[in-house]
Amino acid sequence: MSCQPFSIMRLTHEAIRAGLSQLEELNNNLSPASLPEYKKAFDDLKRTIELHANQEDHAFYPPLEEKRPNLTDVFSEEHEAEHRAFELLSSQMEALPERESNLAEIQQLMGKWISQHRTHLEHEESVLMKVLPVAFTYVESVGVVRGILEYDLKEYEDFHLGWVFGRLKGPQRKVYLGMLKGCSPEGKFPDFVSKIRSHLSPEEVHSFDQENLLAV
Ligand SMILES: [Fe+2]
Ligand SMILES: [Fe+2]
Repeated sequence: MSCQPFSIMRLTHEAIRAGLSQLEELNNNLSPASLPEYKKAFDDLKRTIELHANQEDHAFYPPLEEKRPNLTDVFSEEHEAEHRAFELLSSQMEALPERESNLAEIQQLMGKWISQHRTHLEHEESVLMKVLPVAFTYVESVGVVRGILEYDLKEYEDFHLGWVFGRLKGPQRKVYLGMLKGCSPEGKFPDFVSKIRSHLSPEEVHSFDQENLLAV
């Protein structure tokens, strides 16, 4: 199968959406007993979104700006607003253990942030997905996506890759693997595969093996 380099952005959004839905569920049923799970879900999602936004700001938008000047300004601004929202939510989270009786405030703030972030994902998709196939040649796309993966390789490999891949469903996993196979930085593909193997069912291993998606 052919590699679709920019599927990395769309599929990362899908994984983030799955994380947002899980957090929303926990937020709607928040109780003192579920606080540890709630905090972990938020922290992991925040960590994923922070790397994704940094990859966009530093490795994705700059080459896109060269092709389409000023197209991405609005998204970088949304990232800055996002960063401020994270700081507020994080400080509220830290204060939670002493203020367990006051969960309604954070529930409201979290609910608002979840819906704002969904809007950001849709906004990027509606503007960028149309432009990308026209703005970049295939070879250029591979180079841009390699730059995205290389931006903070350690964080990508240690945490982000497993978090995202674990939230993708069967057909999405196949496309993501194809993207990794085509765009991984030199020599990194086997390391990436070893990070995601634990997420694969025996059926997936069999089917991906047959399509030669797990080997270099
Ligand atoms: Fe973004
Ligand atoms: Fe994004």
